[in-house]
Amino acid sequence: MIDLHTHILPGLDDGPKTIEESAEIVALLADLGFDHIFLTPHFRQGFFENSAETVRAAADAFRNAVGGRFPSVRFTAAHEVHLGSVFDSEGKVRGFLCFGNGHRQVLLELPRQQFPFELLLHTIERLFSAGICVVLAHPEKHGELAEHPERFRELCERGVKLQVNITSLSGFEGRRVRKTAEMLCGSGMVHAVGTDSHRFADAARFVPKGLRRAGELLGEERMSVIGSGEELQIGQTGEILTWS
Ligand SMILES: [Fe+2]
Repeated sequence: MIDLHTHILPGLDDGPKTIEESAEIVALLADLGFDHIFLTPHFRQGFFENSAETVRAAADAFRNAVGGRFPSVRFTAAHEVHLGSVFDSEGKVRGFLCFGNGHRQVLLELPRQQFPFELLLHTIERLFSAGICVVLAHPEKHGELAEHPERFRELCERGVKLQVNITSLSGFEGRRVRKTAEMLCGSGMVHAVGTDSHRFADAARFVPKGLRRAGELLGEERMSVIGSGEELQIGQTGEILTWS
């Protein structure tokens, strides 16, 4: 099963500071059945400015350091890209890491504060024009979208894929977020799941329960499709595609 969203590359963002804690999280995820973990540090100007090269090098070092302990787990490096950091001052797509198999996809994070929905649509269109599909990270966390649930459907109709956090289903982000995540599960609008792991203690407390809940809501067959990456057309190689 794929975990499309984690912050477990140590020292790069607000995830673990040590490789030991990162390895603890991997052990937990592997025990729960995750065998393909995406390493997706934040890409946000002014906060987390790790380049594609930095993330690739960190992922290689991580595989060398802990990969041998988890031979059944594949690691793919990418970024979680903030909406405000997609384009540079000249309007060009910045050099963050995408993923995919045969086409490029970006894991896109929305701002915590309010933002115009049109800005999101415009960004999605520009990315599509550049040959990049959008996977929206934890859309259930955004109150503005939750207040206008028809927007989730509109995004899906535009080809956007939705990645729900497993931990949202076990209450890590509170009741409103949990309800929205449940609605997305029940409406066929979940295309990928992630744990968004930052800390071992939080992952240990919220991921197992969230996985059980996801299984109840989505059913075994749908969980298997989502977990395999079929909805995102992620191949077995989990290859990394970048562009210049
Ligand atoms: Fe994240």
